[in-house]
Amino acid sequence: MLQIHEVTKQFKDKKKYVTALKHVSINVQEGEIIGLLGENGAGKTTLLRSISTLIEPSSGTIHVAGYDTVQQSAEVKKRLGVLFGSETGLYDRLTARENLEYFASLYGLGKHETKVRIEKLAKMFGMRDYLDRRVSGFSKGMRQKVAIARTILHDPEIILFDEPTTGLDITSSNVFRQLVHQLKREGKTIIFSSHIVEEVTLLCDRVAMIHQGDLVYEGTLEKLYEEEASTDLNYIFMSKLVRGGNEYA
Ligand SMILES: Nc1ncnc2c1ncn2[C@@H]1O[C@H](COP(=O)(O)OP(=O)(O)O)[C@@H](O)[C@H]1O
Ligand SMILES: [Mg+2]
Repeated sequence: MLQIHEVTKQFKDKKKYVTALKHVSINVQEGEIIGLLGENGAGKTTLLRSISTLIEPSSGTIHVAGYDTVQQSAEVKKRLGVLFGSETGLYDRLTARENLEYFASLYGLGKHETKVRIEKLAKMFGMRDYLDRRVSGFSKGMRQKVAIARTILHDPEIILFDEPTTGLDITSSNVFRQLVHQLKREGKTIIFSSHIVEEVTLLCDRVAMIHQGDLVYEGTLEKLYEEEASTDLNYIFMSKLVRGGNEYA
């Protein structure tokens, strides 16, 4: 479903070059949930922005459902749902339904399709009671649901969430987790980034750890626990980072 092959990304910052990703390769199968784990500045957002066609890799390739993110970005965009950060970007003065209708029109969905999709998502996410209320009175958790519904209105095959729970309270974070489980049951492929180890263990089939642009681990949690002879992911993560400089330089 997603092939990231030897992706390197350099940014030119004033006169200096910053290498945000170094030869990163990850394959994600259909229906999998992958967690990108890394500290601030590790390169998570850069990778997600590259997948979502917002930026182009300096070298290497990314394919989404067989389409190249640089050469065939329109095909890629159709198949992706993307939510960056926990800022929902909803219009307060509109109702939840109106917000969704607005975004559906941006996706080019027809009237009937929009109605059907909104009904389906409202049912799936338990938003029916407040679908026709103005967003201004919504809790963070309610907003989060509407924002995620907006991200997947066009029924994308792959969904990218960049630090979806950063800045959210526990209740809203739990809302996010529940929705991810639901989307998994629907067979969606999901990639999300986090610097919260627990979140990754709760949600993911596989984990990709990134440190200073290097992929320091990619695989199942079971395999990682076995290799490290520990199930303490916090400890494993930290020790991978410390070793990262020697082992993966
Ligand atoms: N547009 C940009 N210009 C210059 N440097 C950037 C840009 N975007 C990201 N970087 C740098 O790339 C590195 C990775 O950043 P980022 O992908 O945002 O990390 P993360 O999302 O894991 O916190 C950081 O050193 C960051 O400063
Ligand atoms: Mg980031």
